[in-house]
Amino acid sequence: MIDIHTHLIPNVDDGADSIKETLRLARAAVEEGITHTVLTPHHNRYWVTNEKDKVLKLTKEVEQAIQEENIPLTVSPSQEIRMNEEFSEELFAGNYLPLDENGQYYLVEFSWSDFPSFARTYLQEMLDAGITPVIAHPERQRPFLDNPDLLKGLIEMGCISQVTASSIVGDYTEEIRQASHYMMEENLIHVIASDAHNTYERPFNMVEALKILDKVYGTTYKEYLVDNAEKIFMGQKVKPFKN
Ligand SMILES: [Fe+2]
Repeated sequence: MIDIHTHLIPNVDDGADSIKETLRLARAAVEEGITHTVLTPHHNRYWVTNEKDKVLKLTKEVEQAIQEENIPLTVSPSQEIRMNEEFSEELFAGNYLPLDENGQYYLVEFSWSDFPSFARTYLQEMLDAGITPVIAHPERQRPFLDNPDLLKGLIEMGCISQVTASSIVGDYTEEIRQASHYMMEENLIHVIASDAHNTYERPFNMVEALKILDKVYGTTYKEYLVDNAEKIFMGQKVKPFKN
């Protein structure tokens, strides 16, 4: 299983706060059946930036530390990129790290509170260039909670979206748990990821979330959300879910 959204790199955002915690997270990932984690530190948030070169360098360090401990987990560099006014310019200048090697997918995060006026244009520019934006955890963003049609419009444009395992489990609020289910029922979700930050408050929760998906929606849908993580990582096309 591949996890396309994690905060394992130590001391760069609100994720792992030491290399020891990185290693604890790596072991926890393996226990959950994860074989590869894409490292997606926050970028473009007002309180934190993690530039491409820094992430590339730190990913190598994390990789080495994991190998030294003989933990059977591979990692690759990417970013969780906050949508801001410079987003499009920076993206097309090659300053962002995609989720896959070929640059087909980028993990795009919106602020908790608003959906900026320029966002739709920027997303369309990506789609026109053959790039698919992966919207990070829409079930945890106020604009999508208040207006699911906003998300629906973006999916109809060609964007895809990632639900967080802990939202399904109910580790955030009941509103977020319900929103995650509503969005899945409406076919507005394409992939599941952990967004794991640490082992104590924001863990992987993948096994538990997958159990719920299996029970509520069945194995085919659960596998659809899991398999798309691999498709994204391999730069392959993600299709809408069909019963
Ligand atoms: Fe994240």
